[in-house]
Amino acid sequence: MSSSAASDSRALLSVRELRTHFNVGDHAVKAVDGVSFDVQEGKTLGIVGESGCGKTVLSRSIMGITTASNASTSGSVTYCGTELAGKSKRELRKFWGEEMAMVFQDPMTSLNPVVRIGRQLTEHLRAHKDLSKSEANDLAVQLLTWVRIPEPKERLSNFPHQMSGGMRQRVCIAIALACSPNLLFADEPTTALDVTVQHQILNLLAQQQQERQMGMVLVTHDLGVVATRTDDIAVMYAGKFVEKASTSALFSGMRHPYTQSLFWSIPKTSEPKHTRLSAIVGRPPNLAALPPGCSFADRCPYVQPICREVEPELQTIDSHSFACHLPVGSSDAEAALSANISAGLPQSKGAAARREAHQGTLT
Ligand SMILES: Nc1ncnc2c1ncn2[C@@H]1O[C@H](COP(=O)(O)OP(=O)(O)OP(=O)(O)O)[C@@H](O)[C@H]1O
Ligand SMILES: [Mg+2]
Repeated sequence: MSSSAASDSRALLSVRELRTHFNVGDHAVKAVDGVSFDVQEGKTLGIVGESGCGKTVLSRSIMGITTASNASTSGSVTYCGTELAGKSKRELRKFWGEEMAMVFQDPMTSLNPVVRIGRQLTEHLRAHKDLSKSEANDLAVQLLTWVRIPEPKERLSNFPHQMSGGMRQRVCIAIALACSPNLLFADEPTTALDVTVQHQILNLLAQQQQERQMGMVLVTHDLGVVATRTDDIAVMYAGKFVEKASTSALFSGMRHPYTQSLFWSIPKTSEPKHTRLSAIVGRPPNLAALPPGCSFADRCPYVQPICREVEPELQTIDSHSFACHLPVGSSDAEAALSANISAGLPQSKGAAARREAHQGTLT
């Protein structure tokens, strides 16, 4: 993954300075605000961040399926060298299915509640592939088997409401993979699944990647999944990427205090029973009224006056990008944390305790 200003012509997907703002009254909700990244063939970019930071709006904006009438999108999205920004829905439809596909976070938004599952699958298959009715039917059964739906033949006659949430999610994964896309956006694809099925589905996606060099953007709240299933990680906060790096570089030396706080909030099995979870102090900011300076300043244990005045730029050192005036691990950050602890700043006291508890567990 890289993020240089010019788009990477060898990349499967190049996104540059993408913005999606929603106009609400006199304000703009800056859901996605200047995001840039590349995805290479066969690689997975994991996107993590708290609820409401813009992960779904980002994926939908890239696919060109932001339907809200109050949305305005700008920036560049290049797929295999072709600029998609500015294309009509009719033109974009040529890319959906076989080139790019998406597993939606809420399966009910992509399944038609009054059409049987079998018809939804076969119609999708026949719209994209030259198949007879019975060939499409056979392939639909094969796809449901693939995503571990028991009694797949019988399930074809079900309406979505007759399936569990986890089954509906697997149907959506089957539909997304039906036409063997080159690029898959998977928005929380395994959230509603139990751990065993989750593992099987993630293996299925990994197998697709190996066999066909499929690129993937994996949005997830599950930091365990992101640690083991991605090549690169982007950490999103208040509509922006605040840190991105290869997965190994991020885990061996995270630089943004938000990333650190996010990973510190993972409960550890080695902790004694009833240990309090280390939640991040405060709440994410209102995207319609962002504070000046760094959006994370109010919650940051290292905060200094400059953080509230000047917005930090995304800087890149050895392919590791982060937007922070006092990056984790720097002597300035250490000095700021000590000063904030002495001053009794609540988030800094919490951070000091968490640091002690997590010492040596992230590498
Ligand atoms: N049509 C809209 N009008 C105004 N604001 C919107 C609209 N659609 C989305 N938003 C706002 O955009 C922000 C980002 O939403 P998004 O769904 O991308 O969050 P998310 O990171 O996917 O969260 P989650 O992890 O809960 O799925 C939210 O603050 C949301 O309220
Ligand atoms: Mg979402």
